[in-house]
Amino acid sequence: MAAPAASPVSAPVYPLVQRVLHWLVALCLLALLPLGFYIEGYEKEAVDAANAALGPGGFDLLYALHKSFGLTVLGLMVLRLVARAAMGEPAYVRPLPPLLRLASRTVHVLLYVLLIATPVVGWIGVSAYPAPADFWFVADLALPVGENRALSEFLLQDVHAPLAILLAILAAAHVLAALKHRVIDRDEVMGRMIGRGSAGS
Ligand code: HEM
Ligand code: HEM
Repeated sequence: MAAPAASPVSAPVYPLVQRVLHWLVALCLLALLPLGFYIEGYEKEAVDAANAALGPGGFDLLYALHKSFGLTVLGLMVLRLVARAAMGEPAYVRPLPPLLRLASRTVHVLLYVLLIATPVVGWIGVSAYPAPADFWFVADLALPVGENRALSEFLLQDVHAPLAILLAILAAAHVLAALKHRVIDRDEVMGRMIGRGSAGS
């Protein structure tokens, strides 16, 4: 009788809930960054172009969408922190070299910090203006911080914007690193977040 075929080595993957949260946050970021750069500064040409393309109130719609996506990211990140604390991370089949492990851990921790700090600062910034903190056209989640234009401008221009730019740079580096694992190293790292856990390819 022929011996059964060897089953492929199965590498651990992130639990489904963590994978879904990861990809939802990534999708939100894809919308948030271009919206953020477009609405920034309330530039007259940008306002006119959006209102011409989307109808009256088009620019305000983009503003509301940016805030809604941003607050959604914050909510997803809270869930993600709970999931991460409860479930941890899967073990690596072949541990990464120590320096690479340190770099990867540092970027992941910084991404977590920025994905929470950036929306929190934006949220307090609009609340202090005071402007609505729109949440998907069903709620205004503005915080009761009282009117403080100087604080609002400082938070949005001098803190929110640099944090968001740093986040965009780190996210881009993270995506490039993930693609390198997939295309050049051909190891199982990408599979950990996609959910296909066969080691090596
Ligand atoms: C992860 C979440 C978020 C990201 C990545 C993000 C990203 C950005 C970016 C890239 C800009 C343009 C910055 C610039 O070049 O000046 C921006 C602007 C802005 N964001 Fe966010 N944002 C997030 C969450 C939020 C939230 C939750 C709010 C408010 C509820 C908000 C309110 C604003 C406002 C009002 C501006 C325009 C500021 C100005 O005109 O100077 N953002 N955001
Ligand atoms: C095409 C886009 C993306 C790909 C291919 C990707 C891929 C991956 C992979 C493979 C991992 C697991 C790494 C490991 O365990 O060693 C991971 C983890 C992670 N990714 Fe992404 N990612 C993408 C976009 C993003 C974006 C936009 C963000 C947010 C800015 C993000 C934030 C994170 C974080 C924080 C972790 C660590 C998860 C944890 O250990 O709890 N990713 N990603």
